[in-house]
Amino acid sequence: MRAPGGFPVVGIIGGGQLARMCAGPAAELGITVSVLAEAPDASAALVIPSAPVGSHADVDAVLAFAAHCDVVTFDHEHVPAPVLSALVAAGVPLHPTPEALVFAQDKLAMRSRLTEMGMPCPRWALARSAADVAAFAEEAGWPIIAKTPRGGYDGKGVLVARSADDMAEWLSHEGTEETGLLLEEKVDFVRELAVLVARSPSGQAAAWPVVETVQTEGICTEVLAPAPDLSPDLAACATESALRIAGELGVTGVLAVEMFEVRDGQGQPGFVVNELAMRPHNSGHWSMDGAVTGQFEQHLRAVLDLPLGEPTPHHRWTVMANVLGGSDEELYSAYRHVMARDPGAKVHLYGKGVRPGRKIGHVNVSGEDLGGLRERAGHAAAYIEGRVRE
Ligand SMILES: Nc1ncnc2c1ncn2[C@@H]1O[C@H](COP(=O)(O)OP(=O)(O)O)[C@@H](O)[C@H]1O
Ligand SMILES: [Mg+2]
Repeated sequence: MRAPGGFPVVGIIGGGQLARMCAGPAAELGITVSVLAEAPDASAALVIPSAPVGSHADVDAVLAFAAHCDVVTFDHEHVPAPVLSALVAAGVPLHPTPEALVFAQDKLAMRSRLTEMGMPCPRWALARSAADVAAFAEEAGWPIIAKTPRGGYDGKGVLVARSADDMAEWLSHEGTEETGLLLEEKVDFVRELAVLVARSPSGQAAAWPVVETVQTEGICTEVLAPAPDLSPDLAACATESALRIAGELGVTGVLAVEMFEVRDGQGQPGFVVNELAMRPHNSGHWSMDGAVTGQFEQHLRAVLDLPLGEPTPHHRWTVMANVLGGSDEELYSAYRHVMARDPGAKVHLYGKGVRPGRKIGHVNVSGEDLGGLRERAGHAAAYIEGRVRE
């Protein structure tokens, strides 16, 4: 389904901000993107002219959408397995493939596969009953972390359980006995890191520098690129591990590997893998303004099996601060103020309605002075959110 000039059409299932942010690079590259949007006013549908409305769970809608695309990729990991199988049966090239994607869709599948690969992971178990929880807590000690295997995001689907009582409600959810919950030790991490890589179907891969991510109540609020004071050995090992995961799982497109930095008994730095995302990721938003090739351009290049772009940063530091929905629905005057106050700040807004805690945009600033950049990015985000007024 070629556009004029023989240029391909990339279909994206899901009309969130990740699909939306592919639109700019696609326009520059001469690639057409089409998005299957959940609503006419979905974030991506507001900027991408080809945005049929349909559910990612509706086989017929997804197949009709894919018929107009050369390759199909994803804004989120929630497309059900039967829909993915129908796409494969219809001969639609999917990136990532369902065989790889399952390790980003299902945290239990991810944990067992990474453990098989010998990747460092938190201590974990599958629990279907209170007895399973008690056995794990006995071994790992309270508090423990419980996770729904599928469908979680931004900390929804993650529970810090301090006692058996805290687990009772989750265990009683319908279907839990069947699918089970993922239990993990509560990792006493030094900080959270993420490694973002891209891999193309022909096996070319590229890695951005390891970043530090800051989560507030389970939501990413700040990213420091690269992670400050990271041991070079740890950076190399984390990057190698992410590339190995991408290769062994056959990931195509962008892969984010979320990690916890930990210390061993001798105080030596190491990491355990938290989770995988197979799409552009919040930890890579800095690259839009801070690297030669940003993650959205790279994802398009990767899913089309084009040669990948250079991931090198073009500043010493880039700091990204997320803008979360606050109480104020009107953002435009705050946005004007931020631009006037800091002309070096790159403000990205997603055209989404304001709801408390919802990701509605981010701000990138790049330069030499990390402390100053954090202050500037944080202030700009807080100002747009309405948390500060000067
Ligand atoms: N085993 C753990 N130990 C300590 N903190 C954790 C653990 N698992 C998750 N967290 C915290 O919860 C956040 C969200 O968990 P995550 O599994 O990444 O879920 P989500 O899919 O919502 O991103 C993590 O970024 C981290 O801050
Ligand atoms: Mg996460």
